[in-house]
Amino acid sequence: MNKKILVTRRWPESVEAKLNEHFDVTFNTNDVPLTTDALQSALKNYDAILPTVTDNLNSSVFEGLNDSEVQTRIIANYGVGFSHIDLESAKNLNITVTNTPDVLSECTADIAIMLMLMVARRAGEGERELRSGSWSGWCPTHMIGHKVTGSTLGIIGFGRIGRETAKRALSFGMQIKVYNRSKIDDSTLNEFNAVQVGTLHELAESSDFVSLHCPGGASNTNLIDLAFLKAMKRGGYLINTARGEVVDEEALVFAIKNKLIAGAGLDVFCNEPKVNESLLQIENVVLLPHLGSASKMTREAMGLRVLKNITHFFNEEEVPDLVC
Ligand code: DGY
Repeated sequence: MNKKILVTRRWPESVEAKLNEHFDVTFNTNDVPLTTDALQSALKNYDAILPTVTDNLNSSVFEGLNDSEVQTRIIANYGVGFSHIDLESAKNLNITVTNTPDVLSECTADIAIMLMLMVARRAGEGERELRSGSWSGWCPTHMIGHKVTGSTLGIIGFGRIGRETAKRALSFGMQIKVYNRSKIDDSTLNEFNAVQVGTLHELAESSDFVSLHCPGGASNTNLIDLAFLKAMKRGGYLINTARGEVVDEEALVFAIKNKLIAGAGLDVFCNEPKVNESLLQIENVVLLPHLGSASKMTREAMGLRVLKNITHFFNEEEVPDLVC
């Protein structure tokens, strides 16, 4: 009999159709994030759950369940980040967890570069001015920003997305500095003409742009705090396409309002879809609604990657993107 699969949000049509060919699929037709109760009941009723970043699979979802009442054998996440899934609880119930690396690295790096350009060249502000009808025409002192080409980019987390971002930055003649918890091998650093620094402080004080490409979750929560922001150059910009919790948003608001840094470009937030009210009031931040992987090709590729993971899992073959 076909395995019972729950897809928690709507996917691109072509991949939903492919899933349907192979599994007994239930789609969440309302396309709204599932509640804790709904997720807990899904664990009892489906062989696989295919969640997204909007499903909060924290420990309370797994609480009180034992092995015998849980039907789910795999949580195959549609996305690379998995800090919304409590891995410890999943492991305790013998549930495999997978993600979708690689396929969204290029698109997310594109957005990181776009945010750098937008915030430094004041694209959001300019568009708002023009649309509001208050643009009074070209003049030498109008909306002056900062040149991106030739500046220094500090990258925190030099995995796939960090490297794709570095690749793009090189074509802007940027110097690359890297902070990464483990040592990056010399040949990779040479490939990007990059220097690995030993401390976050060193990265902060020597970069014009700091772009975050590390995972979210407890170990990186508030990695970017007031001390880090104070160490940044006064003309520096912070770019976040990783996870909201990596940045202490209150500290960021303070740093921008007090001109400790020049601005920020953010694609992710602590309490999505809610956005810190103060951030919404500040002109020199660019705010995007978590668009990192939002291209047709990428979202289809993510779906196909999930399909591959569950197909391999149920065929008892090696699972390509095993998280735990
Ligand atoms: C990812 O893949 O982690 C994106 O942020 C969407 O979840």
